[in-house]
Amino acid sequence: MATQSGIIIEGPDKPYTIVNTIPRSSPGPKQALVKCLAVGINPVDPMQQHTGVLVKEWPAIIGSDYAGVVLEVGPDCTKLKPGDHVYGCPAVGQNKFTPFQETFLVEEDVAFKKSDNLSVEETATVGAGLLTAALCLLAGMDLKLSEDGTIAPEKDEWIVVLGGTGTVGQFAVQIAAVCGYKVLASGSPSRSGVAMDNGANMTFNSRATVDEQLAEIKEFTGGNFARIFDATTYGYEVMVKALETCSTATTKYLTSVDDWSPFDTPATIREYRAHTGQLCRHDEPIGAQVTKDAARLIPTLEAHLAAGTLEPVKYEVVDGVGWESVIRGIGALESGQATKKIVVRVQED
Ligand SMILES: NC(=O)c1ccc[n+]([C@@H]2O[C@H](COP(=O)([O-])OP(=O)(O)OC[C@H]3O[C@@H](n4cnc5c(N)ncnc54)[C@H](OP(=O)(O)O)[C@@H]3O)[C@@H](O)[C@H]2O)c1
Repeated sequence: MATQSGIIIEGPDKPYTIVNTIPRSSPGPKQALVKCLAVGINPVDPMQQHTGVLVKEWPAIIGSDYAGVVLEVGPDCTKLKPGDHVYGCPAVGQNKFTPFQETFLVEEDVAFKKSDNLSVEETATVGAGLLTAALCLLAGMDLKLSEDGTIAPEKDEWIVVLGGTGTVGQFAVQIAAVCGYKVLASGSPSRSGVAMDNGANMTFNSRATVDEQLAEIKEFTGGNFARIFDATTYGYEVMVKALETCSTATTKYLTSVDDWSPFDTPATIREYRAHTGQLCRHDEPIGAQVTKDAARLIPTLEAHLAAGTLEPVKYEVVDGVGWESVIRGIGALESGQATKKIVVRVQED
């Protein structure tokens, strides 16, 4: 059996180990075998190493944002062919599908095909963040993104994005703006420019007290909002109180990247939680729904990325090429040194 290099983790909190003994997979009918060229680092990567969250098998191979080139496709593939550049969020926790190895499998329905206007490194910033934001805003809050990559006419309505400065939050700000909404985003004061660069109209301080944040939301929106998205996991109380006490809408929506804390959302508010980590878990109800929603949304997102109405987020590339650099990239994220999305080049094209 052909083997390849990559990073394995033997169990929760065990170190990252570079090995040369990982079996190489063959694509199923609607799958492609992809050579990993670059990866983006996400908070879930160190979380998986420390706790094993979402890991389905040990030793685990992790990774949550990939950019690569197709080597081989299964007989029923219609979208992808060898030589195509692809990127996206993998089936997190399932070893054959995760990108911290030379090659891995993707399901073609949930892979993004790279357009010529994007570089490989840029696409490594997109998959998990954009898909999560899209699921929350489009599947979870009924926003409509044009199918042809155009920007919707401006609406006289606000959306509030808590954490419009993080990767998921920046994509959420972009999507909301492209859908025509006025966007009020929160962030730490030194990073508010990041949200503005992505299309926010106004920002407020995410580290202020709950009452101070509510006062800002009320003042900027005048109550003219029905939707709040928390892209930080710190914003549940602000979301509920803002919708209950500041919003004048009749139908209200709350969405969150926090899919693990107990929520007790009032019945008057529609709740949606991101479950991007369940992608391609076809035998689990949430996984099947997320995979179906992702497959439906990705062609529209590709059209907007090709048109430049949605853009990769700003990023920094770790020195070097290969698995040692990936491990350094995870360390940089954990230490809080990075101020932008971290991208690591893994192999030459
Ligand atoms: N459930 C899912 O399917 C799913 C999918 C993707 C991500 N996630 C989770 O979503 C979160 C964001 O992911 P990401 O990739 O966007 O991470 P990120 O780029 O590191 O962004 C983190 C965001 O959280 C904000 N933040 C950090 N500490 C805060 C605090 N004490 N109070 C308020 N805001 C705070 C940051 O604000 P500043 O930068 O302005 O300080 C930033 O906006 C992570 O927890 C991740 O694990 C969940």
